[in-house]
Parts: sequence; structure tokens; C-alpha cells
Amino acid sequence: MAEIRLELRGAFPHQQDFLDCPKRYAIAASGTKAGKTACGAMYGVRELVNRPGCRGWWVAPTFEQSVSVGLEAVRGLLPRDPDLVQVKTTSPPEIRIVPTGSVLSFKSADNPDSLYGPGVDFAILDEAGRQSEAAFVAVRSTVTATGGPMRLLTNPTPRTGWFWRLYTRGLHPDDPDVASFRWRTADNPLISREEIDDARRTLSESTFRSLYEGEFLDIGGSVFRGVRKAATGALKPGEAGRRYVGGLDLARTVDWTAAAVVDEEDCELVAFERWHGSSWEMTVGRVAELAKRYPGVRFNVDSTGLGDPVLEMLERNDVRVDGVKFTSTGKSHMVERLAALIEKGRLRFPPLEVLMGELESYEATTGPTGVVRYGAPSGMHDDCVTALMLATKDLDIEPSTEWTEDDVVIGESELSEVPSLDLDEKEGEW
Ligand SMILES: Nc1ncnc2c1ncn2[C@@H]1O[C@H](COP(=O)(O)OP(=O)(O)OP(=O)(O)O)[C@@H](O)[C@H]1O
Ligand SMILES: [Mg+2]
Repeated sequence: MAEIRLELRGAFPHQQDFLDCPKRYAIAASGTKAGKTACGAMYGVRELVNRPGCRGWWVAPTFEQSVSVGLEAVRGLLPRDPDLVQVKTTSPPEIRIVPTGSVLSFKSADNPDSLYGPGVDFAILDEAGRQSEAAFVAVRSTVTATGGPMRLLTNPTPRTGWFWRLYTRGLHPDDPDVASFRWRTADNPLISREEIDDARRTLSESTFRSLYEGEFLDIGGSVFRGVRKAATGALKPGEAGRRYVGGLDLARTVDWTAAAVVDEEDCELVAFERWHGSSWEMTVGRVAELAKRYPGVRFNVDSTGLGDPVLEMLERNDVRVDGVKFTSTGKSHMVERLAALIEKGRLRFPPLEVLMGELESYEATTGPTGVVRYGAPSGMHDDCVTALMLATKDLDIEPSTEWTEDDVVIGESELSEVPSLDLDEKEGEW
């Protein structure tokens, strides 16, 4: 029988501790790029090679992530020899180690019903904090018959929900079943100190602590800090020759419509209007009138759940628009970006009570599915925040010469690192 020779990279010390953990549930909550996925892949490969005939599952929040991130990471550790390793690309995708007959299947957590199955010997949950409790329960029940281990890897979640509960259990060294590990991005020696120092300077403190230090954060009205300090601007009339970008949150039914215009060079909110729900004609008219006053302004419009006709109506009235469909990841990016702009004193806006109030009460909560949701507390509005984050979403924030040396810049490269949630999205093969 052909023998499999593993090309396992050496685990880094923090990964080795995780791999050596004898408990049934091992959990790593960590900063981005600390080596979670790589460690999960090493764990899986080790099981497949050492336990003949075993069957494991790799579960990620979506099928795409399971395959393009998970399967690729596992495959990357194995020899490309079909006599030793076979990759099945039809659903469910699987990797089979020929000499041991062991198989790893790649699954998605977005359909918990598909996660009940017989005889799974071990399960690896990558990005576990973004998976629902229902998915966790399903996988757990699937390894129950075999008493098999589960390995959970994730960026930190807010301090609530099933993942946080399990994680805190594992912080007690004498818990017989659960062990929790916290890793920092800096634990991965491949990530340069400069990169981490840069992130520390450019991201908001809470984002840095969560994303790079692997720290679970309190949730609540602390999404935007330094709101009052940033409220030193004033509304200004439009001027020819300046560059403006707008954000528009259109009222659906009983809501408010909010429109914001930001001067791109000064990074300052110069126009802000908010009005209570009315007909589309009236709304479009008001936006068109605002657009006329700020030459060249282009509005990013929250078009989630809106039909094209509304955008077309705006365009027919000479309003330049870009529809933005909110996804939870895209929205998190926008919120984090706005939080950093405000906290670092980059963005200025007038001391408008309604805007400051919405910013200060804006919160992050974890829904029943474990996914973080940003928005106003129930019964309150967040249309001002939405308009502002739409207006600032693509701002080029290179420092102008007037800025002091202490000022910090957020560049696209850091932002692409930002969430955690941003997995390497490579094209899948099937
Ligand atoms: N032990 C190791 N040896 C060599 N390279 C490693 C090792 N562990 C991780 N890496 C590399 O470090 C980088 C980050 O690792 P990985 O993608 O596993 O991190 P992650 O914590 O899952 O990141 P994310 O926050 O994006 O999910 C990858 O390029 C990976 O190949
Ligand atoms: Mg990963």
C-alpha cells in the first residue's frame, strides 16, 4: 500500500497547544490571520492520516467558505498525488486519504438541517462565531454517537450567544470538556510588527482589540466613540470646484429619510437633511433640490429591498446615484470605517443633536443566529447614521498636508484586512 508522507508545516507554538489539547471541545478565539484556518486544517489532516477509516466534517458559515477556504487549506497540506489523496468536487466536496480510507467532508452551516448525519468522528468549525446555535447543535449531535472531538476557530464575537457561553466555560482550566484559547495576530510570526502597529494606529481601539488581539468586546452603545469631540464642523453651502459625496437612506414606510453630503477633501459633513416619510415624488424632489446645491455630488443609496424604479426616478431628476445593497459583512465594514473616522478625529460634522444622539446610541447586538447586527436600539432610528456611513463609505482618506504627523490614515489595504469576516474568497472549483 502506498504510504502517505505528510507535508505538514510546523505548527507555531500557539497552534501546537491547540493541536495537543486532549479535551473534547477546543476553542480558539483569535485575532485575524493568527493561523486559525491553517491550524484547523492541520488538525483535520492529522486525524485523517492517523485514524484509518475515520470521517470528519469541516463546517464554515457558507458553502463557498467551506470550499474555497477550508478545502483549499486542507488540500494545501497534502501531496498532490491521486494515489494518495483524492478530491471529490461533486456535492458534498470531500477529501479522501487513500491509504487510510479516511474522509473529510466540507459542509455549510447555513442549512443546519443538512448537518445531521451518522457517524462523524470529528468536526472542525471554522469561523464558528458566525455560525448559528442551530448549526452548532446539529454538528454536536452528529458527533455524539462517536463521542468525537470538535474544534472551533473564530474571531471573537460580542459577549453574548452560544459561542461566548462555550468559550467562557473553557476559560476554567478545570472544565473537563472544554478548553479555550485566545490568540493574537502577533502570535503568527509571518505577520510583520509594522503591519500590526499600523493597524493599532489606524483602526478604532475597539476594532483593534477585537480584530488583532482576539478580545471579546462588550456590546452596547459603544460602537461610535468620540462623537462629541468630532462635532466641531458646520453646515456649508456648496461651492463649485469642490468634490462632494452623498449618502441617502430612504424612508420605507413610517420611517425617516436622511440625506448627508460630505466634502471629500475636508472630510466634513456639509449638508444634512432629514424628513419624515412622504411620497416618492416629494422625496425625490427634495433630494434633487439638495443635489443641485452641491455640484457634482453623487449619492450612495441604501437600495436594499428597494426596486430599481426609485433609483431610476432619482436619475431622471438629475440625481447621480449608486445603489448599495447591504450585506452583514458590507455593513460591518461601513460601520467600522465610520467608527474609525470619528474616533481618530478624521471626520467632522456639525453638532446636530439628532445625528449625535443616533451615533451615541447605535449598538451591536447578536441575533439568534449568532450574527452581529448593527443598528439602533429597538424603537429608535438610525437613518442619520446610515446616511453618514453611506456618504463616507468610499472616502479617500489620504492625509492632506494640513494634517499633523500624529494623524493616522486608513488605507484600503487595512480595510480589506478588517473583518475577520472577510475570508479569502478564491474561486471554487465546482
Ligand atoms: N504554521 C504555519 N506555518 C506556515 N504558515 C502558516 C502557519 N499558520 C498559518 N500560516 C499562514 O498564515 C496566514 C494566516 O493564516 P490563516 O489564514 O490560517 O489565519 P486565520 O486566523 O484563519 O485568518 P482569518 O482571520 O483571515 O480567518 C496564511 O497565509 C497561512 O498559510
Ligand atoms: Mg481563517
